[in-house]
Amino acid sequence: MLLHLMTWTEVEDYLGRHKGILIPIGSTEQHGPTGLLGTDALCPEIIAKHAAAEDPDIIIGPTFNVGCAQHHMAFPGSMTLRPSTMIAALTDWITSLTRHGFEKIYFLNGHGGNVSTVKAAFSEVYAERSLAAPGSNGPQVRCHLQNWWELEGIFNLCKELFPSGHGSHATPSEVAVTFFAYPDKARNTVLDPKIAPMGPILDAEDYRRRFPDGRIGSDPSTATPELGEKIVTATAKALMTSYGKFVAA
Ligand code: NI
Repeated sequence: MLLHLMTWTEVEDYLGRHKGILIPIGSTEQHGPTGLLGTDALCPEIIAKHAAAEDPDIIIGPTFNVGCAQHHMAFPGSMTLRPSTMIAALTDWITSLTRHGFEKIYFLNGHGGNVSTVKAAFSEVYAERSLAAPGSNGPQVRCHLQNWWELEGIFNLCKELFPSGHGSHATPSEVAVTFFAYPDKARNTVLDPKIAPMGPILDAEDYRRRFPDGRIGSDPSTATPELGEKIVTATAKALMTSYGKFVAA
């Protein structure tokens, strides 16, 4: 079920039975010459929706689709939040949900650059409760951050499907996932060099100098909707196991 397609009475009924919610979180940032700007938000959203279609007990919240992407800002279309803004926004998202009785908030992440900031937001949520006067604590809250490519077995599957030029940004696996969900956006072009360079990530201007077409270490020209489907099917299955364990704990 998708939260934004439910009514408040349906959510109230659900909260009588379950306390968990799954939120896709990503970024809006360049993904090389062939990848969509929404790739990092679309991947967790596509995978989460696939899992929710299999399991009616999973509610998917709105996708948090702009993250920490300052290093991509030299490429048009990229958007970013300052870490402090993102921490504030995430704290409010989580607190809105816990206000109604959600206790287990699982974020499925599509962007490595979000990790430290999301964890800082979790610490803010926990600190607020710990600092409250005794007796004023609300229901317990547990937050979890899971990178989709680190779900059990998924990184190995991606390496198997794309043995060379997987890289770390605009990877063929993430591009394939979006091409599976949006086949009319599947495209290809001659990439030069075929496999992009690797290197450190610093500020936006430095990034564009080091990685002129936006890719890092990758060759997304091997991405196809068919391979994307394999990744989505396997990742949704692994997600259901991981989410199930989290809400049951
Ligand atoms: Ni990405």
